[in-house]
Amino acid sequence: MAAPIAQGLNGMDAQELREAYIDFFKERGHAHIRSASLIPENDPTVLFTTAGMHPLVPYLLGEKHPLGKRLVDCQKCIRTGDIDEVGDASHLTFFEMLGNWSLGDYFKKESIGFSFDLLENVLGIKKEQLAVTAFAGEDGIPKDTETAEIWSRHGLRDDQIFFYGRNDNWWGPAGQTGPCGPDTEIFFDNGQPACGPACGPACRCGKYTEIWNNVFMEYFKDKDGSFTPLEHKNVDTGMGLERVLCILNGKRTVYETELFSGIISKIEEISGQSYEGDNVRAFRIVADHLRAATFMMGDGVVPAKMGQGYILRRLIRRSSRYLSKMGVEGVVMRDICQVVVEQYSSAYPELMANRDFIYEQMTSEEEKFHKTLRRGLRYADQMFADNGGGEMLRGDLAFKLYDTYGFPIELTVELAAEKGLKVDTEDFEIRFREHQDRSRAGSDQLFKGGLADHSEETTKLHTATHLLNAALRAIIDPDIRQKGSNITAERLRFDFNFDRKLEPGELVAVEKYVNDAIKADLPVVCEEMPVEDARAAGAIGVFDDKYGDVVKVYSIGDVSCELCGGPHVSSTGEIQGFRIKKEESSAAGVRRIKAVVGRFD
Ligand code: ALA
Repeated sequence: MAAPIAQGLNGMDAQELREAYIDFFKERGHAHIRSASLIPENDPTVLFTTAGMHPLVPYLLGEKHPLGKRLVDCQKCIRTGDIDEVGDASHLTFFEMLGNWSLGDYFKKESIGFSFDLLENVLGIKKEQLAVTAFAGEDGIPKDTETAEIWSRHGLRDDQIFFYGRNDNWWGPAGQTGPCGPDTEIFFDNGQPACGPACGPACRCGKYTEIWNNVFMEYFKDKDGSFTPLEHKNVDTGMGLERVLCILNGKRTVYETELFSGIISKIEEISGQSYEGDNVRAFRIVADHLRAATFMMGDGVVPAKMGQGYILRRLIRRSSRYLSKMGVEGVVMRDICQVVVEQYSSAYPELMANRDFIYEQMTSEEEKFHKTLRRGLRYADQMFADNGGGEMLRGDLAFKLYDTYGFPIELTVELAAEKGLKVDTEDFEIRFREHQDRSRAGSDQLFKGGLADHSEETTKLHTATHLLNAALRAIIDPDIRQKGSNITAERLRFDFNFDRKLEPGELVAVEKYVNDAIKADLPVVCEEMPVEDARAAGAIGVFDDKYGDVVKVYSIGDVSCELCGGPHVSSTGEIQGFRIKKEESSAAGVRRIKAVVGRFD
């Protein structure tokens, strides 16, 4: 258990902390950008946005950002690698990352200076309470003595500065390839005695909590594992909002901060149990999972058998199990979501805007699960009996529970443990992947290609998406608007508002419109202009404060004129051909088209 930490350092609430961070960097020339969606728009390598830098990859790779070289934001993030650890004091599935960026502008000295100033003068954390790390040097990349010297100049003693190698002091890339570099991680030292001579920020004894990571992003990691220096040197930083809030308020864990207190009270009310003793882990799991699930649905994710939807389903179903273990019967999750929606809507208005969708999805998934659970539990008992008496439940049986009864693997593992059995999760995983490959849309595919894969293929798909958008508006309905877009290395997916299925004839006409534009080999031109000019030019796209005053407008001949960050082909002939593979419903009033590009003769 973590030792007591300094009490009541500052007492800021979450919104004050978001604002303090953003204002601090705005005062130092940074433009405030809004949190991007949790669903990466054009990155086939990951399911969710995992860091503030993620939506900024094109700019870290050298593309010019319309708002300049200094940016700040508070980004919604999901990390799914640690779902099984959730329930302890610190692992969260959803979290908010405060971040600031230099895109080829300032570097180590200013970045560390800003961090130090904010921590000491705005958040009130004393320099004696800090510990920092620097890169020890590895793989031909030198030791980062410069970073250590900068920290010394700010008054940190040598015993507050630690050097670590690649495993601890290097960040990125977010996927298989992409921008990365050595970092300096900033820790809060709660003042408890070191647990031994080797104790330091990398130790997990509870003395040190990582609060900020400043990455000096100088390299691009290629598919073959080699590092090439980037065109310009960037700084990418990330501060975990929940952790810092916890420290500023002298709380033991993130679950005791105001971000969770409303959710936890609601679970207490629903279950008639208290958040204490043996209940603590279950409460934390339900609170974490349903908070993350609410945010995912707020960005349009629907429970499903694959991809993002499968992660969402796992979170909901696991929460359902824990609620039922606490004795909760009936359909209750909607009420927990409501607390999340109300609490977070001022920072993330999309939750309030999509609340009906969130509540409907949540309730329908919860009801569905109650049904399958009842049937599945009977079957599972039979299955454990059929296992043949070994200590390990066979992977094919675990897969059957997943495939037929929708049991997430964690649920099977937990049920098996209750019977004293382990599960052959490796074999399950092989079957699961085979299944996903067969269905050709699995999350596996999301790992093909390379980060933000600005490959030829995704660039073509990106431009084809603009043409499809134009075609739908020209042929089906001028009021059609984009509701979502996702591009993998293989296909585009485009969601738009429309309230009925498209007729086969309509699909043929839309496809032909796009192919005619491709045959005409229209030039694709990018112009930066004030947002008012873009509007006057009739550009479509999201005219909120996302890009501020100057926006990038991509025109494709006179067919399309759209606000966009790119990248695009330089003329439409490069796309070669376009084919619609599927048209289906995505949500109430939203249709979805999946399409591919290339030569089809
Ligand atoms: N991208 C860095 C991180 O996630 C800042 O830690």
